[in-house]
Amino acid sequence: MLIGIIGAMEQEIKLLTKSMEITETKTIGMRDYYTGKLFGKDAVLVFSKCGKVAAASAVTCLIEVFKVDLVIFTGVAGGADRALNIGDIVIADRLVQHDMDASMLPGCKKFEIPLLGVDIFKADSRLTALGAKSAMHYVSHYMAEDVSQEALTEFRITTPKVVVGTVASGDQFIADSSKVRSLTEEIPDLKCIEMEGAAVAQVCYEHGIDYIVFRVISDKADEHASINFPLFIEKTASHFTRGIVRQFISEI
Ligand code: ADE
Repeated sequence: MLIGIIGAMEQEIKLLTKSMEITETKTIGMRDYYTGKLFGKDAVLVFSKCGKVAAASAVTCLIEVFKVDLVIFTGVAGGADRALNIGDIVIADRLVQHDMDASMLPGCKKFEIPLLGVDIFKADSRLTALGAKSAMHYVSHYMAEDVSQEALTEFRITTPKVVVGTVASGDQFIADSSKVRSLTEEIPDLKCIEMEGAAVAQVCYEHGIDYIVFRVISDKADEHASINFPLFIEKTASHFTRGIVRQFISEI
């Protein structure tokens, strides 16, 4: 099995890149794809850049050029569920493109991709359950020694929660609590907001490829988001992404 792994930003996957035994690097469409062994498994790793188009392009390349069998997307997100704090982990069981709205067209619901007829992409339940188990294992066994004490203190992370739920993606960095409120009212079980996951879900759905989306909460998509997001990205994100992906890969 060949596993494709994507993070939107270099900072989010920098420790995964360091952990990989790279045998080949191919540059396609302004992105570097690293092929090799990651934690003993055959893998291709790429950072896509931010947004739905970038993520869709990267995942299409992983599927069409590299012929991956499974896609793992990993990175950070803004928390939408008020019960979630920085450091908590979300595994997507449903993904929606929150900025898609063609509901003014006859027969098209809000969030529905016109002509595809899907508004919410449902992830594979076996992979989602395995993802949650892996994330919990990482949190209870490795996180405390993996993430620096300074970062744990700075972001007040004790024992992160691991939750499964809806992830909303759109081409907007959200730093506005009223926008978060309106999205939580419109989207059932919304856990977090980011910019790529539902685009990856759409492409994988169209190609019949399994995928999993892991998100670590870096901010609450509120008025502090523009400060918390870059701090979390620089110091902490890639410890979480490496730990969760390592655990997940070792269990599949
Ligand atoms: N990724 C991390 N935080 C985010 C936010 N507040 N909005 C969109 N994407 C994000």
